[in-house]
Amino acid sequence: MMNNTEYYTDKICIVTGANSGIGYALSEELLKRGGAIVYMAGRSQEKIAKAADQLSAYRDQIRPLIVDVTQQEQVQNGIEETAAEAGRLDLLFNNAGGVGGTIV
Ligand SMILES: NC(=O)c1ccc[n+]([C@@H]2O[C@H](COP(=O)([O-])OP(=O)(O)OC[C@H]3O[C@@H](n4cnc5c(N)ncnc54)[C@H](OP(=O)(O)O)[C@@H]3O)[C@@H](O)[C@H]2O)c1
Repeated sequence: MMNNTEYYTDKICIVTGANSGIGYALSEELLKRGGAIVYMAGRSQEKIAKAADQLSAYRDQIRPLIVDVTQQEQVQNGIEETAAEAGRLDLLFNNAGGVGGTIV
């Protein structure tokens, strides 16, 4: 039977809101679990680059992705570009937002 770590092995993932908080912690956890490729998505190129730098031990598994989740076109393009580059998309973690914010 597959355990929780094995499930995430070699999965192609997008995590939105990945530069801080839960999205950052989730990205780190996925990276630790067996070679997942994590597209760390955020609306600020600078913040995503900084977050990726903090996880440099997993450099080869990280792909920065610039997406503001309130912009439908950016979301669609981000998903299509990821699937085209990686060949597929296994898991999308729709985390971006803020406590008390208005993003649904
Ligand atoms: N922490 C809690 O107790 C709690 C409880 C219930 C639900 N949640 C939900 O869990 C999620 C993460 O919470 P958190 O505590 O980790 O929040 P956080 O530390 O404030 O992080 C939010 C992340 O979302 C990003 N983000 C915000 N608006 C965005 C947008 N339009 N497009 C792309 N990225 C955007 C932020 O990027 P920027 O740096 O660019 O702003 C940041 O990386 C949120 O959806 C929140 O509503 C959290």
